[in-house]
Amino acid sequence: MRNLDENTITEAVLARHAQATDERLKHIVTSLVKHLHAFAREVNLTESEWEAGIRFLTEVGHITDEHRQEFILLSDTLGLSMLVTALAHRKPAGCTEATVFGPFFVDNAPPYNNGDDVANGAPGEPCFVSGAVRGPNGEAVSGARIEVWQADAKGLYDVQYNDTGTHRARGVLHSLPDGRYHFRSIVAEPYPIPHDGPVGRMLDALGRHPWRPAHLHFMITAPGYERLVTHVFREGDRYLDSDAVFGVRSSLIAQWHRHPAGTAPDGTAMATPYSTLEFDFVLNRST
Ligand code: BEZ
Ligand code: FE
Repeated sequence: MRNLDENTITEAVLARHAQATDERLKHIVTSLVKHLHAFAREVNLTESEWEAGIRFLTEVGHITDEHRQEFILLSDTLGLSMLVTALAHRKPAGCTEATVFGPFFVDNAPPYNNGDDVANGAPGEPCFVSGAVRGPNGEAVSGARIEVWQADAKGLYDVQYNDTGTHRARGVLHSLPDGRYHFRSIVAEPYPIPHDGPVGRMLDALGRHPWRPAHLHFMITAPGYERLVTHVFREGDRYLDSDAVFGVRSSLIAQWHRHPAGTAPDGTAMATPYSTLEFDFVLNRST
């Protein structure tokens, strides 16, 4: 194969993969090459633009380590993560929709009982969260593992502080026999995704902001049901229609009700204002 030109090179590259034995890999790489070449032709990619792209991806790699995954942030901000989530979770109507996982999940979050305060000292206005976990036919899901994590009043997750090791505003609890759950935490606030690296510069160059609307993350698992990774977003947040990672779904938006000082739903005497949030989850059956 010689003298390849702009018209013949794509087929030549694809022909080189003819012997690949992994059919799925072959399918993916064939499509990738076709789309990459079509993209370069469509924008008439120059050599200096190609070099800038390589430099950008190199920086994304250099800033990535075990604490920071800039490639996932790139995928998130280009809408690829949410597209993959949408493709993987086409659920029957009525099931709670999935959204992006995000980079702030950690293994080994502390266990809690219903009613406990998962904030564990994280700054923020107290918030009492409750609801139920159900199946598609409305059946209570007892003993579902509910993992929750969220940013604090400063818009930071515990893992973004240097005093690592202390888990705050995250934890694991289990639904009660009637499917219900309840815990205390803090009011979620909007926050910018990490934007001091190449992805932040990309957003800036594109005239985009890095903010995410306030949300609580949930991961819920129960035998016989599909794992649910989702958020609950706060009604009224100014970033609901411009989430930096395209994760908002109307069905996941809920009202945080604010109350003056008084008696909280669990009977606690509150000397300061507090909020309440009620949200039910509907799990899809696993196949
Ligand atoms: C998050 O919600 O934690 C998140 C998701 C995607 C990118 C950055 C943060
Ligand atoms: Fe988040």
